[in-house]
Amino acid sequence: RDPELDASYEANELAAKFYHYLLNNSAQGQEAKAYLIERGLNGRLIDEFTIGFAPESWDTLSRFLQSRGYEPELLEKAGLLSAKNDGSGHVDRFRARIMFPIRAKDGKICGFAGRVMDDSKPKYLNTPETKLFAKSKLLYQLHSARAVFRKKRSAVLFEGYMDVIKAWSAGVKNGIAAMGTALTDDHAALLSREVDEVILCYDGDDAGQAAAMKSIPILEKVGLKALIAILPKGMDPDEHITRFGAETFIREVMEHPVSVTKFKLLYSRRNHTLLGEEGRRNYVMEAVGIVAELDSRTEQEIYLKELSREFELSLESLKQDCHGIWSERQKSRPDRDKNDISWNNGRNET
Ligand code: UTP
Ligand code: MN
Ligand code: MN
Ligand code: MN
Ligand code: MN
Repeated sequence: RDPELDASYEANELAAKFYHYLLNNSAQGQEAKAYLIERGLNGRLIDEFTIGFAPESWDTLSRFLQSRGYEPELLEKAGLLSAKNDGSGHVDRFRARIMFPIRAKDGKICGFAGRVMDDSKPKYLNTPETKLFAKSKLLYQLHSARAVFRKKRSAVLFEGYMDVIKAWSAGVKNGIAAMGTALTDDHAALLSREVDEVILCYDGDDAGQAAAMKSIPILEKVGLKALIAILPKGMDPDEHITRFGAETFIREVMEHPVSVTKFKLLYSRRNHTLLGEEGRRNYVMEAVGIVAELDSRTEQEIYLKELSREFELSLESLKQDCHGIWSERQKSRPDRDKNDISWNNGRNET
């Protein structure tokens, strides 16, 4: 037991309650609440996620927590106060922001993400790396999604806090998100203990699609099956739900995730102009390379048939090229040691 750590958790818990109180009961908080309602949240969701408001002030939280006996030095270590540059004391770290508490996997509040209500930067400010708050190991809402993980053996990974909250209200109770960082090996290891598959539901912009491409191998490395839910171009899950409603989101996005191969083909397509001869050829060759990553000939054939039909090429020549690439890769693969988890896809056949 570490008394300082315990006190830091308590301070974060108390801060969350205070921010939540201020959202509901202060004059400045009313504006923040109106902003959240405008974005499609309601009082029930605000309570459920203990969303709060940090006022535009240098010392509102600081004075409140010090009146409860917490020293500024401890509050700084807890990530709630920042030391002034000239060393003359501390100020509230979060000012004029909507506050989303972040819980550790046991449910204890270990930090916050604070969002501005206008276009100023940074859009989200997080708790700094502290003893409690290690971003590379935290997943937003993991503590509550775990109950569903056990039943469904499936997780839905979103990009943002708002996506998780809105999807939750639409019925997706196994949604989680990283803390504004790329998915890490630690995240993947954490998930692999609780689920068998992860549905990536990232933003439909270039950044989101590129992030999905990067997350796929990280999940596959620990033996998780990845699937990808596709959003319309430029839209994120939160916007989709606001615009089209919960039912449409479930029906059109969540219920039809595509396979990794299909997603890679779609992603490659975006980067080629299929109107010209050159673009078509480049796409087909890249596509054959993607299909060649599959070890099952039958699965390969399913995708090759589609290519053959669309580009009016013989299935035979596509198969030949595909198998050629596949065999070449086998040769250059590292020793197929039973203990090499990248080879047996992380699953231990025992
Ligand atoms: P987005 O830019 O997609 O934001 O970043 P969002 O989730 O849609 O946010 P809203 O809907 O505008 O409120 C995705 C995630 O990246 C992290 C956050 O975790 C955010 O949810 N992020 C983004 C940051 O940490 N800091 C930033 O300044 C911006
Ligand atoms: Mn985004
Ligand atoms: Mn987004
Ligand atoms: Mn966006
Ligand atoms: Mn959004």
